[in-house]
Amino acid sequence: MSRILQSAGERRAETHPLTWRLHDDQSPVLLEEYLDTQGYAAVTKALEQHTYESLTEEVKSANLRGRGGAGFSAGFKWSLTMKGEGVPRGYIVCNADEMEPGTFKDRLLMEQQPHLLIEGMILAGIANRAKQGYIFLRGEYHLAAAAIQRALADARADGWLGADVRGSGWDFDIALHTGAGRYICGEETALINSLEGKRANPRAKPPFPGQSGAWGLPTVVNNVETLCNVPGIVNHGADWFQALSGDLSSDGGTKLYGVSGKVNNPGLWELPMGTTGNRILELAGGMRDGLTLKSWLPGGGSTGFLLPEHLELALDFDTIGKTGSRMGTGLLTVVADNQSMVSLTRNLEEFFSRESCGWCTPCRDGLPWSVKLLRALEAGEGEAGDIELLEQMARDLGPGKTFCAHAPGAAMPLASAIHYFRDEFERGITRPKGEAHADPIPVGSV
Ligand SMILES: Cc1cc2nc3c(=O)[nH]c(=O)nc-3n(C[C@H](O)[C@H](O)[C@H](O)COP(=O)(O)O)c2cc1C
Ligand code: SF4
Repeated sequence: MSRILQSAGERRAETHPLTWRLHDDQSPVLLEEYLDTQGYAAVTKALEQHTYESLTEEVKSANLRGRGGAGFSAGFKWSLTMKGEGVPRGYIVCNADEMEPGTFKDRLLMEQQPHLLIEGMILAGIANRAKQGYIFLRGEYHLAAAAIQRALADARADGWLGADVRGSGWDFDIALHTGAGRYICGEETALINSLEGKRANPRAKPPFPGQSGAWGLPTVVNNVETLCNVPGIVNHGADWFQALSGDLSSDGGTKLYGVSGKVNNPGLWELPMGTTGNRILELAGGMRDGLTLKSWLPGGGSTGFLLPEHLELALDFDTIGKTGSRMGTGLLTVVADNQSMVSLTRNLEEFFSRESCGWCTPCRDGLPWSVKLLRALEAGEGEAGDIELLEQMARDLGPGKTFCAHAPGAAMPLASAIHYFRDEFERGITRPKGEAHADPIPVGSV
């Protein structure tokens, strides 16, 4: 189970808008308690005081950037959605697929605070004039599914969902859709296809979902954490949200940062956006068993490996973007000095290869080929030219060469591992045949 490691005493409504209500025993916050702690106040405020344009404007000026990994402004996305009198009302889709390796932040929010997500979706529904919401949930998240189902029923019984929401004359409901466990279903247009009951291949853009999404209607897809930030923005205003990150970042708000790997206290923390990797690693209790940090992924398997010196950087979209990596989901995966970069990279590429939807050639054929080469290097059976071939493949998988961002995501750890740790890859060619790597990962372990 995901653990938030700040105790209840440390978390306050003004500074920890995502987690201040959480219980230390990790039980979900139920409707009655949610209502007693300002819950659904933002919906009441939005229905009484906002138009859909002013609500969109508020979220836009808060500079809430999408927490699903790409960092696109939520308010800007909403401002591009087709809406208005005469335009058919469409959908709000919450992307809760969360299959990015090393990422477990949305699970915590859904298991423990489902009403915050529902409230965020209702607000997105008002701002985008939607008629229906869907939560597209990773199939294995059984606890989250149970918490959400109960919260949806309770919210409906109390008039926050369904016909004539709280006497406003506006109808809006939310349905839970559980996926069958494919990484590509997290890509927003593949997700829409899957929701419609079709094979989960990504769709061509344009048209963007905001113009023609699910069943051809305007559709907004946002990540769980993105949507959970909206009630705070509506309650306290865009300036408050911006101020949460202080001087640390030009991006507003807090972020659920996390750490997994060989650290003493893996877990999650809600911290100001722009907190450094050093601080996050410190909260995780540092490396365990006297190990030293060799490398780290800043936000999931589809981000690029970085070095210990990068830990001093602000973990936000623009700063990490300048290193050639991406902040992604903001959950760090640490690599210890005794772990093999070749082995780790092969393990990740195996995952990406398996999860390719098969639509375009570099991804469908290139990824299994890269796995084959990486396996040979891992076994000390690489040949001259293999590393250069892998580098060429990473370029061929890069942005603009394939139909969706799956392949460029897969290229990031591959290219960066070779860039920073080329010597380890070279040893896969030069070391005596059969000599094992340090701490190898068993094949097929993702
Ligand atoms: C292969 C792939 C998998 C993705 N998986 C997820 C996911 O599990 N959750 C998510 O929120 N976004 C995921 N995304 C990003 C979505 O396509 C989309 O950008 C995001 O849901 C938009 O929400 P946001 O703007 O609130 O971040 C994925 C993208 C790709 C290419
Ligand atoms: S890049 Fe990969 S996952 Fe994306 S459409 Fe092409 S084959 Fe499918």
